[in-house]
Amino acid sequence: MEDWILNHYKNRTWAGETSVQQAGNTISVFGWAFRFRDQGGVIFVDLRDRTGILQIVLRKEILKDHFHLAEKIRSEYVIAVQGTLRKRDPESVNPKMQTGEIELVADKLEILNSAKTPPFSLDEFEETSEEHRLKYRYLDFRRDELKNRMVKRHEFVFAIRNYLNSKKFLEIETPILNKSTPEGARDFLVPSRLNPNSFYALPQSPQIFKQILMVGGVERYFQVVKCFRDEDLRADRQPEFTQLDMEFSFVSQEEILAEIEGLFSKVMKDVFSLELKTPFPRMKYRQAMEEYGSDKPDLRFGMKLVDVSEIVKNGDFQVFTVAVATHGVVKAVCVPGGSVISRKEIEDLTAWLNRDYKAKGLAYMKHGPNGLESTITKRFSPETLAKISEAVGSKEGDMIFFGADERQIVNHSLGALRLKLSERFDKPTEGHFHISWIVDFPMFEWNKDANRWDSLHHPFTSPNDSSLEIFSSDEKLREGAGQALAKAYDLVLNGVEIGGGSIRIHSRELQNRVFSALGIGEEEAKEKFGFLLEALEYGAPPHGGIAFGIDRILMLMTEGKSIRDVIAFPKTQKGICLMSECPSEVEEKQLQELKLRLVKV
Ligand code: AMO
Ligand code: AMP
Repeated sequence: MEDWILNHYKNRTWAGETSVQQAGNTISVFGWAFRFRDQGGVIFVDLRDRTGILQIVLRKEILKDHFHLAEKIRSEYVIAVQGTLRKRDPESVNPKMQTGEIELVADKLEILNSAKTPPFSLDEFEETSEEHRLKYRYLDFRRDELKNRMVKRHEFVFAIRNYLNSKKFLEIETPILNKSTPEGARDFLVPSRLNPNSFYALPQSPQIFKQILMVGGVERYFQVVKCFRDEDLRADRQPEFTQLDMEFSFVSQEEILAEIEGLFSKVMKDVFSLELKTPFPRMKYRQAMEEYGSDKPDLRFGMKLVDVSEIVKNGDFQVFTVAVATHGVVKAVCVPGGSVISRKEIEDLTAWLNRDYKAKGLAYMKHGPNGLESTITKRFSPETLAKISEAVGSKEGDMIFFGADERQIVNHSLGALRLKLSERFDKPTEGHFHISWIVDFPMFEWNKDANRWDSLHHPFTSPNDSSLEIFSSDEKLREGAGQALAKAYDLVLNGVEIGGGSIRIHSRELQNRVFSALGIGEEEAKEKFGFLLEALEYGAPPHGGIAFGIDRILMLMTEGKSIRDVIAFPKTQKGICLMSECPSEVEEKQLQELKLRLVKV
């Protein structure tokens, strides 16, 4: 092979980085034949490498004996071209192409590899099913859409590392083969050949290790790290995903929030040109639940949940009066312009809320030319109707929906309704980003099925100073666990939880009380997290931290439909890699070595 090809790594010019200033230069380019047009005696090829596309002109009169090679070029052949860069004639300038003012007139051509016809067009404007794109991920990578997202991902992580390095954070790797961690999802297990009948768990997060690093005096830790959770998958959930994981010593909640605001406002501006005003707005968990029916409220639009219990509690409409009398609530959501929603649609919405949120019904009133109207308005006095309208701020053309039930059912169902209808009636403007902290989470949530308290965040989360009293005795804890608030915080971007963390408990005594509230006995605690508990007794500094879902942030910032769009090799909703076809069966011998026998299903 000739020298110019043998030294292609050193000598190449990147196709997308050529410009009109280089006209006249002799260069060599390497890449894939993206499009080609044979005009008899002259063939035009758009050569594509990672940086972009350059038009190549292959002329018989120049290439002479080698021209037959040019005639062989087909889509996605791998080619090497040497030639002279030339300014295009004005009439053939292509303003849509980054390199549209120039072309490379080839005097040498080599085909480095042929290619089968791709199963889908690599043209970015052509729609291709996601299944195809996942199965042939290497071809999808050649398209701008995925490639540009991967570039952004790289820039984002690179900017984070740079920033945190400048702030004295150390990146430290923690093990993948682990004891189970307490994030609350199901673990992925790995059998141990050397220790039969024992399993490693893949980390749901490096939670315990990063706390141990604080006991070890690392003080400021971060890691860009893969985490594994065996959960039901959704658009923003993958079985393996990437966290930016952080932990700080000698720090308060406010200081952590401020440090993160510094990090985000810098990298979001540098990488996505997004200006975020600091400090980010903060909302208490309770307010988020009461007004938006969610602990990750989408604050880009209104349609708040309004408590109308006081207004309707003495009326004639039993559904409402009974709800209030039995310690429930009646709440209303006003949908701007929603009076066009048909009866049939309301029936469907009612069935959906009943099925998924246990809502018993969905009462509604239209705001017509003469005020509120519906089959139920005759059960309310004109004054009450006027008060309802005023409370929710309705105007002609709007629709008001009501939920009457236990507080939690009303919040969850109307919160879901709000989100669904916003797509049609109160749509956030494109390119509008809203970031906010949710703070003052409860310490525990009641697990009806297991009849016990569960941690809302995780068992190492510290109570708020104002809730410490509740933890001073077992008796107070029995009565007050439901009221205890935590030093826990989530970061929410456009209705997606992009991060969460807490100040940790660093006293063994308080940790024991929290375990006892969770029904975790001395033995169980030792068995599960003994090494952390022991470490906490050797001079643990006050510490706290947070972790962010990198995939989720990138999905939002690059306007992906799911986090699969920003992950190089993601799994499907069913946890399958369509390219490598895993998970898959293994050989009997492997099972024997692991002392495992399968129960076939
Ligand atoms: P948490 O469980 O809240 O906290 O996780 C932190 C962030 O990780 C992202 N995330 C996910 N992203 C994609 N797919 C998933 N299956 C998935 N699960 C979580 C979310 C979430 O906000 N150790 C604690 C953090 C701490 O206390 O410091 C933890 O892991 O964006
Ligand atoms: P009913 O009196 O059962 O015919 O219901 C009258 C209206 O109230 C219907 O639109 C129902 O969907 C609605 N409704 C019934 N139960 C509830 C509830 N718990 N919350 C809100 N609306 C309800």
